[in-house]
Amino acid sequence: MKKNISESKLVGLIGYPIKHSLSPLIFNSIFKEKNMNWKYTLLSPKNEKELQIELKKIRDSKWRGFNVTMPYKESIVKFLDELDLSTKVIGAVNLVSLQRKHFKGYNTDGIGLVNFLKNRENIQLEKKRILVIGAGGAAKSSIVSLISENVKEVLIVNRTIKKARLIKESLKKYNKTVIISIGNVKDIAGEVGNYDLVINATPCGMGNLENVYPIPENAMESLSKRQIVLDMVYEPEETVFLKKAKVKGAKVFNGVGMLIYQAAHSFKLWTNEEAPIEFMFKVIDAK
Ligand code: ATR
Repeated sequence: MKKNISESKLVGLIGYPIKHSLSPLIFNSIFKEKNMNWKYTLLSPKNEKELQIELKKIRDSKWRGFNVTMPYKESIVKFLDELDLSTKVIGAVNLVSLQRKHFKGYNTDGIGLVNFLKNRENIQLEKKRILVIGAGGAAKSSIVSLISENVKEVLIVNRTIKKARLIKESLKKYNKTVIISIGNVKDIAGEVGNYDLVINATPCGMGNLENVYPIPENAMESLSKRQIVLDMVYEPEETVFLKKAKVKGAKVFNGVGMLIYQAAHSFKLWTNEEAPIEFMFKVIDAK
């Protein structure tokens, strides 16, 4: 049966620039596979004024929600009607639902990370020691989710130590159990081997940072096969960081799993149906 496009329910991604996003491929493949009359589109307002105009159009239309990416993850907050609890702590939104003209914001970076590790890879996080490299929005969201999993300790290392400190401070009220410490990326040689899970939450390894390690290369010498290393970058599939971690024997994951589990969360929130996870991995593998 041919679908009437004008009756399609709409979802999509707001950001600028967003040409290289994998989300349209993931979502539109699911809609086709499940024969759902939904469409995932891209909106790229160039500034906040344009963003506000797009949001007004969305509010009065067939849209059911949208994802948000750079540079609007933080600035969109003031245009929303409600935030879920952990998103209030994180202060950045990457998912919005729209029901009866009401915008509610969520942050699913951390949920995607934790669900991927637990549900697909059977990795237990409780009591684990975690090293997070980076102190941006994705790092903070991940730390909030890791705290909910009762990890033992999180060390946040960043190029700009002040940003790591701000995360630690802002989580004080929210977190009473997990030890959170901070450090400078340059000073962690010898430390890396002490962590069960090492996560890169910086763009090092992608685009014009393709040959850049998120921590000094010599700091990776203490990595071993009892460790897990996850890079949030998924383009290239294997960053220089993951290549080196693999040589040291660590179990490695790129950012595809986290991306898919985040998309699955959006799909469930908007459509109220479970996302076909394995199908989504196949779509990405085949691209
Ligand atoms: P996201 O929303 O994806 O987390 P972000 O908030 O811009 O993005 O955060 C990017 C993170 O990557 C930050 O920790 C940033 O370090 P600074 O706080 O020092 O800016 C880090 N980062 C970005 N470019 C980097 C580079 N060339 N070398 C090291 N760290 C980098």
